[in-house]
Amino acid sequence: MPVTSKFVALKNYIPTGLPKETDFEIKTKEISLDTKNNILVLNLWISVDPYMRARMTERKNYKPPFNIGEEMEGYALGIVKESKDKNFKEGDIVFSNFGMRDYFVCNSNDLKKIEPMNIPLQTYLGPLGMTGHTAYIGLFKHGELKPGQTILVSSAGGSVGSTVCQIAKNMGCKVIASTGSDEKVKWLKDDLKIDHAFNYKKIENLVLHLKEICPEGFDLYFDNVGGDFLESAIYKMKNFGRIVICGRISQMNATNPGSGLKNMAHVLVKRLTIKGFIIFDHENDREQFETDMAKWLLEDKIKFKETVYEGIENTPKSFIDLLEGKNIGKMLVKI
Ligand SMILES: NC(=O)c1ccc[n+]([C@@H]2O[C@H](COP(=O)([O-])OP(=O)(O)OC[C@H]3O[C@@H](n4cnc5c(N)ncnc54)[C@H](OP(=O)(O)O)[C@@H]3O)[C@@H](O)[C@H]2O)c1
Repeated sequence: MPVTSKFVALKNYIPTGLPKETDFEIKTKEISLDTKNNILVLNLWISVDPYMRARMTERKNYKPPFNIGEEMEGYALGIVKESKDKNFKEGDIVFSNFGMRDYFVCNSNDLKKIEPMNIPLQTYLGPLGMTGHTAYIGLFKHGELKPGQTILVSSAGGSVGSTVCQIAKNMGCKVIASTGSDEKVKWLKDDLKIDHAFNYKKIENLVLHLKEICPEGFDLYFDNVGGDFLESAIYKMKNFGRIVICGRISQMNATNPGSGLKNMAHVLVKRLTIKGFIIFDHENDREQFETDMAKWLLEDKIKFKETVYEGIENTPKSFIDLLEGKNIGKMLVKI
């Protein structure tokens, strides 16, 4: 003690457009235990998530903007290196919101102890973590998915999307998956046994394509992307269908507000339900999810793929690459 902590900081807000590596900096500072912060943790895995993009602008959102020049936050898994708290000891594995850095000091209220199961530790940032929880709550609580229904999933080769596809498939649903590369299409079809997967970047007319591959239409659309894709999906919903608005990644870096949905008449005529949700509102609603997901993972009913960048210095690049679709499954940084 003291220890040098290396962290990622935002250099400036990014109101529109794709972030650049020069919008971030890697900084260091000396940290040490004190009476308030009496546990030292070294992160092992850092979660990289699209919602962080919203915190890089000054606009009002469900989480405040990151502070310029200070540590960015995010979910992480780490190992306790030193503790003066009787409930934590050296070697404990902990979950926190102190991502985007290697070392940090905190107190016991900031940490959740992880009792590792027979699955890779980083699963707690993927299917057993926030993205798995999002898939589960989105499908069951907001989507009200029923066995045998037909579901369309966008960004299906990513962390939330691939979990949604697999849960729905395991329920006996017909799953149609959209994703942005042939490699992701292959994974969805060959390994996850999804009924139909396509590369949206190769489709000229999405409405016609959806009609061709699924003439009966969709009971549920799990929307991770928003924009034109959402508008196309609305055309192909069944009467009384449901659309869960989980994300809007196609709009996150937009340089203009776009034209908005032009087919709200279909929402009325088909009596559709469109429901947005934020997973941070469901923190107290995890028990059933954790029980079910742990069981599915141990039974190999949910498979997990990850894209891993090494070292804190590569965190800005991992985030930009996530927004550009270079990940398959969960984007992670390994420290
Ligand atoms: N509501 C909530 O509480 C909540 C919680 C977690 C996540 N989310 C949202 O859920 C979505 C998925 O999150 P995730 O963590 O699982 O990320 P992810 O899907 O693993 O990664 C993001 C993916 O978005 C896709 N993408 C990027 N630009 C796109 C565009 N212009 N059009 C279509 N797709 C584009 C890329 O895949 P392609 O190769 O397919 O383009 C990229 O791999 C995001 O929208 C995120 O904001 C919401």
